[in-house]
Formats: sequence, C-alpha cells, structure tokens
Amino acid sequence: MGKALIIGCGGVASVAIHKCCQNSEIFNEICIASRTKSKCDALKEKLKDGKTKILTAALDADNTDEVINIINSFKPDVVINLALPYQDLTIMEACLATKTNYVDTANYEPPDTAKFEYKWQWAYKERFEKAGITAVLGSGFDPGVTGVFSAYAQKHHFDEIHTLDIVDANAGDHGYPFATNFNPEINIREVTAKGSYFENGRFIETEPMSIKRVYDFPQIGKKDIYLLHHEEMESLAINLKGIKRIRFWMTFSEKYLNHLQVLQNVGMTSIKPIEFEGRQIVPLQFLKAVLPDPASLGPRTKGKTNIGCIFTGIKDGKEKKYYLYNVCDHQQCYKEVGSQAVSYTTGVPAMIGAQMILTGKWKKPGVYNVENFDPDPFMQELNKWGLPWQESFDPQLID
Ligand SMILES: NC(=O)c1ccc[n+]([C@@H]2O[C@H](COP(=O)([O-])OP(=O)(O)OC[C@H]3O[C@@H](n4cnc5c(N)ncnc54)[C@H](OP(=O)(O)O)[C@@H]3O)[C@@H](O)[C@H]2O)c1
Repeated sequence: MGKALIIGCGGVASVAIHKCCQNSEIFNEICIASRTKSKCDALKEKLKDGKTKILTAALDADNTDEVINIINSFKPDVVINLALPYQDLTIMEACLATKTNYVDTANYEPPDTAKFEYKWQWAYKERFEKAGITAVLGSGFDPGVTGVFSAYAQKHHFDEIHTLDIVDANAGDHGYPFATNFNPEINIREVTAKGSYFENGRFIETEPMSIKRVYDFPQIGKKDIYLLHHEEMESLAINLKGIKRIRFWMTFSEKYLNHLQVLQNVGMTSIKPIEFEGRQIVPLQFLKAVLPDPASLGPRTKGKTNIGCIFTGIKDGKEKKYYLYNVCDHQQCYKEVGSQAVSYTTGVPAMIGAQMILTGKWKKPGVYNVENFDPDPFMQELNKWGLPWQESFDPQLID
C-alpha cells in the first residue's frame, strides 16, 4: 500500500515500527531515520525477517534541509514524527516543501519555554490545504486515542457532551525509586508546569499538583489522581459541541512526587542553562542523562495502565454518563514488542494514524486533530492492533 518515513528511534518509535512491520500489507516499506543511526540499525536487524522492507538513515531533524533531502530520496507517502516535540515545526516545513503527509504524537514546544500549545502547528493549516497534504496532530494515546474516544462518544452516544474527564492511570511498577515512563525531559517539563482545566469557555490555571482526587479504576483499583494541563484539552474545547468542562488527571505515587519535589527544590528540573566546568548545561538535560532510559524499563515493569475518558451529557433529552477506556498490561507489551505499556499505548495509535492516511480513510488537506476525523475506522483498528477498548454506562464520576 505505501511507504512511511519514521523519524526518531526511541521508546515510542520502536513500538510503532514493530506495529508497521506486523501490518506489512499497509506498510510495504519504512525508513527509520534518527539522530543515532546505530539504534535504527539494531531495530532493523531485529525485524529484518518480516515482509516490510526497512531502510535506515542518520538524521538531525532540527535541520529542515536534512529532512527534505531524506524525503526526496525515500519518497514516503507519510512522515511519522516520533522524535521530540521540539522537531515538529522543522519536520512540518519539510513535509510542506515536499508535499508529504504528516503524523505526530505531541504538540510543538519551544526548547527554552515549557509551554506546549497548538498555535504554532495550527498556523500551517492554510499552507497544508494549498499543498493538498494532510497533517494529523497528536496521534498517540493522550493526545490521540482520547480525542478519538471523544469523537466516538459525540457521534454515537450524545447529542451534547457537557463534561469530560480524561483519566490516565499507570499502576506499573519498575522497581526503581524514580524513573519516568517516557522521555524524562518532556515528562518532567509536563508535570512540573502549572495545571489547568477548561470551564465555561475559558481555561483556569492551577498550581502544579494542587488538585488531587482518588479514583477507583477498573482492573487496577484505587489510585491518587492529580489535575494537570494537557494538550488535547485545547483542541477538544473547540471541537466538542456544547462542552462546559474538561479536566485531565494523571496518577502519581507519593514516592514519585517526593523525589520530584526534592529534585525541583535543588534546581535539577530547571531548563535554564547554567555554567558548569567551563560549559553551559541545562540541569534537566543532565538529570535525563543520569535517570534510567525509559526504553530500559520494559523488562522490569509489571502491572497495568488504564487510560480513558468519562463523559456526561444529554442524549434524547435525558442525562447520560459514559466511560470509554483501555487497559494495557506492561508485561504483555514487553512480550510482544519488547517495550512497556506507556510506549506501547503511544506507538500503536501512531501507526494507526498513519494507516488512516495511507488507506485514505482520514484524508483531507489541512492540519487537523484526531477528533476532526471519523472515529469509527480508528476505533476498529485499536481492537485489532492491541489496544481494545471497553465501555461502562454507569461509571464513578469525579467530583
Ligand atoms: N501522545 C502520547 O500519548 C504520548 C505519550 C508519550 C510520549 N509521547 C511523545 O512521543 C515522542 C517520543 O517519546 P519517547 O518516549 O519515544 O522519547 P525517546 O525515547 O527519548 O525517543 C526520542 C527519539 O527521537 C530522537 N531524536 C531526538 N532529537 C532528534 C533530532 N533532532 N533529530 C532526529 N532524531 C531525534 C532520539 O534520538 P537519540 O536516540 O539519539 O536520543 C530518540 O531516538 C515525544 O514527542 C513524546 O512527547 C506522546
């Protein structure tokens, strides 16, 4: 069916690449291009016996010309950006210059300000329309599946959705006192930033980790959840008709929060460069270098994740509640693709987003979030590729 250029070869990319190779009828050929080529070659060696043809390349995706060159030589139908949010704009520029479709899992964030917003990427809408190419933004789990779940709830279960609580629980235990489940720099920037929620037409900012609840999750039990700012709230606030409130919650253990507090207190989570032994270093980047690599957590992590959306609203004049969620087992993911569930739950939807473009099911020129497309074909593929969803019509609500 088609060719995909996959940029990045970390935890999430590794899962997406495994899944593209399992889905070789759609992904005939892939090129894995990343900063450290040896990682791409090692993965190619592991997957070389499958039907998907694999090429590898060294690429600095901060450099638009390098991305253009690789697109011109490989001629992919879609670029799947699984590097870091800092590279979103250079890669989108290259897609524009070469008229190539684009998918990513995280919105652009300037390296020197921990503030992620869609405005930079939405600004490409007209130019992508004119070029006749599609960009699907945020095709991971959250953002990603949470937007698809929202579009599905809106299409099949509600006339109007009034409240949405996105709840992301990870009950996995990796046995380390402190580690992050995806890129530590991006993860720590996200959780140390101010929280926010959407209510009655505006976003309300909160102090980091200042709003806490307890939620009893299907299959993993009671967990502390904390309100965070999260990027999909920005697009869902626009795309869900009649929405009055959106909140995003994530589980954190007391141990994780205590470590984070100490690291923050001593300045290790700062993104302001400091002078150290005659050179400039960013404390958070140094911290990343000493923390366990998320890709190494796979064999050690036991337990499950549960990520989902709880909706309330109106259907046929009556009040209705609805909960859509996926439960994913860390050890099963490791057995299948050699990664833990946080990488798995992001890499699978990234592959499916690219599949939606290659099969023409999600193709409209412009720059879109996942909830702007028909959710049904994506929901079917989730069941097929390892992220089956479950629903409840009488969920516990969060006060
Ligand atoms: N939507 C969701 O649900 C969700 C959830 C988790 C993560 N994410 C996103 O997924 C993305 C990947 O996360 P991850 O955990 O896989 O991170 P990771 O393990 O750190 O992998 C990032 C990869 O990108 C490569 N890279 C970094 N800068 C590059 C550059 N300038 N040019 C080329 N390659 C570059 C890295 O190369 P090296 O190997 O040389 O370091 C590494 O292979 C991030 O954007 C993250 O925010 C989304």
